Amino acid sequence: MATSSSNESGPTLPRQRMSRARLAVVISGAGSNMLAIDDACRRGDLHADVVCVISNRADAAGLTHAAARGIPTSLVTPINGESRESYDERLASVIHAANADWIVLAGYMRILSSHFVGEFTGRLLNIHPSLLPAHKGLHTHRRAIEARDAQHGATVHFVTAELDGGPRILRGVLTLRPSDDEESLQRRVQRIEHAIYPEALELLARGRLRQTDAGAELDGQPLVEPLERHFDF
Ligand code: GRF
Repeated sequence: MATSSSNESGPTLPRQRMSRARLAVVISGAGSNMLAIDDACRRGDLHADVVCVISNRADAAGLTHAAARGIPTSLVTPINGESRESYDERLASVIHAANADWIVLAGYMRILSSHFVGEFTGRLLNIHPSLLPAHKGLHTHRRAIEARDAQHGATVHFVTAELDGGPRILRGVLTLRPSDDEESLQRRVQRIEHAIYPEALELLARGRLRQTDAGAELDGQPLVEPLERHFDF
């Protein structure tokens, strides 16, 4: 088990500890992934706590849902004309103030500056609604249908400067049905996301998973291909 607080080959990691991992969840919208993660924490399936929910958008419903659960929330609204770096500095201060171990992007719709990514490398996670490396970027469900993909799904990955290109951790896979359209796929994939994001975070919280210079490592072994779960939702 990788338990050190730092290592020679990879980025500095939060010290693995017996106490629960502290998650800062960063959102822009409904926050259903954030809620699924918080549910897993409360159930005891995920040994972590959502210590803050941060949004760049005041109208993100996830902020209201988090507040209703008593989770501290922060709104970091972009200022007109502000540089990406300046915005990301303000975002980073909120994360530091929350003393978060892991930064969990969950439907966060802004591109991060390379400085921010560099500062949090190894502690920064995202979920993307496709089987990466397929369909990076937007409109993934439509593109999976148009490409006549046999399978589709979602991927949890570490975040690097390459958009949707960081080391993959866990993929949730479904088989496309002839009846699927963009909306049905979106619903099906979201259910998968709600299962795989807490599972991936639990690997981190337990100190089993880490990002290295070469990619990702699980239980001390290189994670050459992401873990895979198949769903019949
Ligand atoms: C998710 O489908 C995620 O994959 C994508 O944005 C969506 C966020 O949904 N990046 P929610 O805000 O967690 O409900």
